Amino acid sequence: MNFPAFETLAVEQQGNALLVTINRPKAMNALALQVVEDLHALLDTVTEHARPDGGWPVRGIILTGAGGKAFVAGADIREMSAMGPDAAAAYSARTHELTLRLESLPIPVIAAVDGFALGGGCELAMACDFIYATEAASFGQPEVNLGLVPGFGGSVRLQQLVGPARAKELIYTGRRIRTAEAERIGLVHTVFPTATEMYDAARSTIEDVAAKSPVAVANAKSTINAALGLPTADGLAAENRSFSQAFGTEDMQEGVRAFLAKETPSFPGK
Ligand code: HXC
Repeated sequence: MNFPAFETLAVEQQGNALLVTINRPKAMNALALQVVEDLHALLDTVTEHARPDGGWPVRGIILTGAGGKAFVAGADIREMSAMGPDAAAAYSARTHELTLRLESLPIPVIAAVDGFALGGGCELAMACDFIYATEAASFGQPEVNLGLVPGFGGSVRLQQLVGPARAKELIYTGRRIRTAEAERIGLVHTVFPTATEMYDAARSTIEDVAAKSPVAVANAKSTINAALGLPTADGLAAENRSFSQAFGTEDMQEGVRAFLAKETPSFPGK
């Protein structure tokens, strides 16, 4: 897969994983508008390169930040200082669109956080399927320090992950938390002593996923995301549709055939 040259991203395919690094280390990888546009362009390229059989050129994305100090320290405050309400609405809408695109990709996206994940950085990580983090990472929604509120989805996704009371306490105080606490409250999925161990684990997770049916993984992701926040009966109806549709796929035929024949399945991805 060939990518255009991005001003703010470094992109490298590693096995079945695409490692995407936000690359503005001097500004703690702050989310200038260009970063948001580059991430959109990256997703355009990934989507365009879907293979005709319905399979995908990569089986998972690892999203991280350059420099070892920050995943992303939030929106670019210098850039935001020139915005009025209309520009802020457009910026926030563009970031919301980005998070929805990440959630609707048919492959997992893992946030790999080493250093600060603050404001929009924490919100971007929360739009990924799950968060791996080093012990040295920290998280927070410090917008109140700037007279702001979260604008990149934090009002919605933080409470989905940690519950409304914890989300309110974190957002009202702007308090920064270390990874151990973030893991305890359900924001971080797994903690690693070092960045090397974290990246190895993220790659290994994507290789595990790559051995499974691409159609089943995509359906699982879209069903879980669709069911979020729905009344139980509606969530179960979404699951029922997804489960029954799986019976019409070649991947299901192959998975069941291979199990019964005591073989390793070779999924066609359709
Ligand atoms: C622009 C930033 C930045 C940011 C850091 N920098 N964060 N520039 N926007 N969000 C720049 C600093 O200005 C500085 O540049 C350099 O990065 C290093 O930062 P320092 O502050 O010197 O480093 P340190 O003392 O280690 O502190 C790191 C930090 C702190 C804790 C991350 O920089 C910080 O609190 N940053 C702001 C975090 C924040 O409030 N984020 C939320 C933003 S609002 P120079 O040129 O001086 O070296 C938001 C809303 C999203 O995210 C909604 C979108 C729609």
